[in-house]
Amino acid sequence: MSNPLFRKKNISTILADAEAGLSDAEGHSTSLKKVLGVRDLTFMGIAAVVGAGIFSTIGNASFQGGPGVSILFILTAVCCGFSALCYAEFASRIPVSGSAYTYAYASFGELIAWIIGWDLLMEYAIGNIAVAISWSQYFVNLLEGLHIHVPAFLTTDYLSASRGFKEATTALAHGDALTSLSQTVQSSYQAWLQAPRIGNFRLIADIPALAIVFLITWLVYVGIRETRKATNMMVILKLIVLVAVIAVGFFYVAPANWSPFLPNGFGGMMKGVSAVFFAYIGFDAISTTAEECKNPQRDLPRGMIYSLIICTVLYILVALVLTGMVSYKDLQVGDPLAFVFKRVGLNEISYIISFSAVIATASVLLVFQMGQPRIWMSMSRDGLLPKVFSRIHPKYKTPSFATMVTGFFVAIPALFLNLTEVTDLTSIGTLFAFVLVCGGVLLLPKLGEGEQKPKFKIPYINAQWIVPTLFVVGVVFFWKNFLGLFDLGGGWTVFRDKLPFFLFVILAIGLTITSFIKKLSLIPVLGLASCFYLMTELGYTNWLRFIIWLVIGLVIYFLYSRHHSKLRDVVDK
Ligand code: ALA
Repeated sequence: MSNPLFRKKNISTILADAEAGLSDAEGHSTSLKKVLGVRDLTFMGIAAVVGAGIFSTIGNASFQGGPGVSILFILTAVCCGFSALCYAEFASRIPVSGSAYTYAYASFGELIAWIIGWDLLMEYAIGNIAVAISWSQYFVNLLEGLHIHVPAFLTTDYLSASRGFKEATTALAHGDALTSLSQTVQSSYQAWLQAPRIGNFRLIADIPALAIVFLITWLVYVGIRETRKATNMMVILKLIVLVAVIAVGFFYVAPANWSPFLPNGFGGMMKGVSAVFFAYIGFDAISTTAEECKNPQRDLPRGMIYSLIICTVLYILVALVLTGMVSYKDLQVGDPLAFVFKRVGLNEISYIISFSAVIATASVLLVFQMGQPRIWMSMSRDGLLPKVFSRIHPKYKTPSFATMVTGFFVAIPALFLNLTEVTDLTSIGTLFAFVLVCGGVLLLPKLGEGEQKPKFKIPYINAQWIVPTLFVVGVVFFWKNFLGLFDLGGGWTVFRDKLPFFLFVILAIGLTITSFIKKLSLIPVLGLASCFYLMTELGYTNWLRFIIWLVIGLVIYFLYSRHHSKLRDVVDK
């Protein structure tokens, strides 16, 4: 008998279940309205992708990598491109709501499906915490522009305030003036000093982040039609603004700023991986709306790929303009696009950028707040989560309970958490999801009886010789890192930092051998390897947090989901 942990869902059954529109125990329908076309999906992809990353985290990545961050945008886009093709193949083959979770159920079996469903919480919900925090920062800037001042302790998280306070007091002790410190440090310092206290605890929380999440949750709760209109309008606005940034900024570029192109070398550039990758997250989120699409098999792949291409072109140009307008050394700010225009004296444009950043990040929130409940809905339909998660609102036709839970899950931590920490966690979690999706394509079963031929398939390129060749090139290129793996002189603290790369080397050897023997398809292999490589750049601490997260998920699986899985009933009876 096969191991129940790896019991798989049959693709024909997944499709039939979704087609039938299941009912829950109380007889509520669980089928969704089919209204989305390719244009809506492309817009939704852009809505999810263009947000806090390009408006905010790009600043830090540019500071670390210099103008060469544009190369990182290209490299990351290529990795995302491989994954997008894999997502597209899955979406075309299994056009139902659960995204990577459902895909994993069909290719790897239940345990990995659960892991990925749990992991997607990091991409969607934890990612949205990051976006809400970033939204709040821009919103506060905007209010300042309108001469409305909100006390800093109501717009900052506790950790940032405490860190900023420490940094400021150290600087003051060295005789520096407060005004010589960055705006962020100054406001953190004020937040810490002005906050009301209970005993030693200071009441510091990001209220705008909480408010925007509740507002967006309400929009999502009342339904896809309203959401779609709002999304399309927001996307048009942010596209216009990004094109304007590129077109106007171009005239202010001083080519001298592009030299040196990689001031901190390859290593400096790669420090921006988390921030840059975060900017691309989202094109995959549209696969959660499969059951609301008119023609998902044709339109989902197109929507994902079109949105990724459009964003990649815009990002590379924005990165070049940004680092061309001012020195990369000045870009360690939370609002880099607005900042560079202020620097060249175009204050009005800077103000418009702040306004559109507020809109752009809100639209990202919208897509992810919509995606997360749909993943929960799929997991609940499979019995891995309680039934109430798949209940559909009788009037609005949205997964009502799951939407509300998502709202609280995102809004409450957004009050307290710090942007960098949540961005890193989101990036590592999402990269892991991409790794599994690429791996899943390699394991996808052959077409079942009666199953329709998918309208999109990844072109097959035989990896047999190409991957071993790339492996040899990689070893030559990373020779130093490779040799460093075997130098165990630095003790545990040095060795632990090498662990992720060590795992990558093992994976690369495994993939090379399997590609050679099994003549695997090249694109998923490259997607898998490149996304895993990006994970290795995220450092030991993030890996540790990520692993703790996965362990918590496994505990829930073994205590609840395994015993309630619908597949268990089918297999065991
Ligand atoms: N890509 C999304 C953003 O940058 C998550 O906000």
